[in-house]
Amino acid sequence: MKFFLDTANLKEIEQAESMGILDGVTTNPTLISREEGTFKDMVLKICQVVDGPVSAEVISTEFDGMMAEARDLAALHENVVVKIPMIIEGLKAVKALSSEGIKTNVTLCFSPSQALMAAKAGATYISPFVGRVDDISGVGMDIISDIRIIYDNYGFETEILAASLRHPLHVVEAALVGADVATLPFKVFAQLINHPLTEIGLKNFLADWESVKDRVS
Ligand code: G3P
Repeated sequence: MKFFLDTANLKEIEQAESMGILDGVTTNPTLISREEGTFKDMVLKICQVVDGPVSAEVISTEFDGMMAEARDLAALHENVVVKIPMIIEGLKAVKALSSEGIKTNVTLCFSPSQALMAAKAGATYISPFVGRVDDISGVGMDIISDIRIIYDNYGFETEILAASLRHPLHVVEAALVGADVATLPFKVFAQLINHPLTEIGLKNFLADWESVKDRVS
């Protein structure tokens, strides 16, 4: 399973990257709006920190605009993946971009049928938003497991990128149902590592070692 960081914050990206297990980054307009600097500059800086796919989203909602933005973003760096919304014009753009060799991440996916359409269009990634479905009393993870079955049934190569993951259990469940990628807010990335019993256990081991260290050569 690949781990992407869902942020445009360079410090968070640098910190996760230093652990050696970061595979890529996803951004969206909301995440970009929280940081300083121009959009393209931010994307480029992220690409310089992470050696992996970096998703950057288009703002246009019609084909020509999406194509122009997508080509512009893809020209920034070889690792840029263009994020396209799951709408009809978006699917047309995904199909055209995939024939140009530009990688795409279809975003704002909330159903298996949308994921099927994205795969048919040749999307590199599909991003089902788990947490936002849970927010309205749905079961977001069921969408991921249904997409896994559908993609496996037909051998679609589109990677399932579980997004809108809000806590460690979301990540574990996404791994259990076979998501290819989990994109995580930095907070969740850190939460995956921490466990109070690890902290207490280590503290006790070190204290016990302290009491016998003179006897150990
Ligand atoms: O990047 C898309 C997705 O991860 C957003 O998550 O928490 O805003 O629903 P959230």
